[in-house]
Amino acid sequence: MKLPEPQVAVLNAASATEEQPIDRLAEETGLKPETATQAVFELRDDGLVDVTETESVEYELTEEGRAYVDAGLPEIRLYRAAVEAGAAEEPVQMGRVIGAAELDGPEVDIALANFGRKGYGEIDSGELAADGDADPESDPEAVALIALAGGEDPVDVDDEDLDQLVSRNLLERHERTVRSVTLTDAGVTALMEGVEAAETVDRLTPEMLTSGEWEDVEFTEYNVEADAPEVRGGKTHVLRQTAERVKDVLVGMGFQEMDGPHADADFWINDCLFMPQDHPARTHWDRFALDVPPIDDLPEDLVDRVESAHREGVGEDGDGYHSPWSEDFARAIALRGHTTSLSMRYLSGTQVGDLEPPQRFFSVEKVYRNDTLDATHLLEFFQIEGWVMAEDLSVRDLMGTFVEFYEQFGITDIQFKPHYNPYTEPSFELFGRHPTTGELIEIGNSGMFRDEVLEPLGVEHDVMAWGLALERLAMLTTGAEDIRDLHGTLADLDFLRGAEVTY
Ligand code: PHE
Repeated sequence: MKLPEPQVAVLNAASATEEQPIDRLAEETGLKPETATQAVFELRDDGLVDVTETESVEYELTEEGRAYVDAGLPEIRLYRAAVEAGAAEEPVQMGRVIGAAELDGPEVDIALANFGRKGYGEIDSGELAADGDADPESDPEAVALIALAGGEDPVDVDDEDLDQLVSRNLLERHERTVRSVTLTDAGVTALMEGVEAAETVDRLTPEMLTSGEWEDVEFTEYNVEADAPEVRGGKTHVLRQTAERVKDVLVGMGFQEMDGPHADADFWINDCLFMPQDHPARTHWDRFALDVPPIDDLPEDLVDRVESAHREGVGEDGDGYHSPWSEDFARAIALRGHTTSLSMRYLSGTQVGDLEPPQRFFSVEKVYRNDTLDATHLLEFFQIEGWVMAEDLSVRDLMGTFVEFYEQFGITDIQFKPHYNPYTEPSFELFGRHPTTGELIEIGNSGMFRDEVLEPLGVEHDVMAWGLALERLAMLTTGAEDIRDLHGTLADLDFLRGAEVTY
């Protein structure tokens, strides 16, 4: 049998009884690892060798891990300094112990967190008490770290300690696939019958053409089915693609784009929306307050009208909140929790002057909420804000607008649920069904602005408005089941590389 030279070399080096990793075959034959790998796969395709894959895990100390091998883990240094300072007998001021332990920068937090976790002692009101019976000599993480640094096989180290060291970023875990090769019966037979290197030529040169040599040589066959290296070009992020499509759709529906500050006065974010100043969403829990000077350019007459709406309500039988209202609070700056702040700026006439109906405006912009991160919540996300001002609007107009909008994305089964917002009446939440999980997920919130909002703004017509979640729309169009796969530090790069957006 005639085979290309690398294949002959690999075949001769492989064994029928012992699995050999490709790396070892490469070393033995003197072939480059990629040439050996290619030869192995070609031999496998011809049925001459078998390839098995196993996952191997290797560990490597990080720079921080290596530093602690010499200096000791921060919590152990803290413990030793604490005992030295007499903290095993009675609590000692924390600052003193930290100083004596020579911990600085991030090491202090690391030491304190692990000190408590490992039961080296307790920290209470700035004082540190050490447990005199603790034994830092046998600290499992320290022992494991030193053992690994000394070349010990990770197999002999407790899994839990390995996991801890990895999660503390003192150790890196590398997983790789090892491919091992054995000869098949056909491979053994071929070797017994004799295998020769075929002298093949892998490219045609001008010299071969002029000399006529090309007529006599044998050309290497191309394996057009071989795996080729993946080429990854840059591409627009799925979320950006979706945002752009949303803009196109809304512009197509006659909307104009709004623009405005990410950090804004509470006045625009909340007060104009008839959100009482003691509303739970306005407390520091939900709000990213910024420690910057308050806004100074609010339209005074608008401030007065908004304050009056809060205190007394609007209209003849209107009623206010009877709760405190302070202009200082209204002027304080925070990151906007919704882009309805932009709608307020535009509707008030301060952004682009007074607007005559009909008007349609939208934005696709970032908002910030002090929420708990989970599969459907991010702390920063994009809102598709929008509003329509016209002579006469009804809930049917609002629902119809959503049906028309979502249809452009192939979503034809949105559902509405009555809702409450301090600034709209009636209000509706929108739901869409996730294409893979089948779950109904909330995709937006909407309603008709109430008089308490419109009258102070000087708007005399109906306004229907909404805030839709761009990420949730992208979850429906891409099938992403976890919003964190889409963007943020946990984004799933493989998903983003392969994600297909359907609309
Ligand atoms: N601001 C609302 C939210 O963030 C959305 C909304 C805007 C609802 C305008 C009604 C009217 O959920």
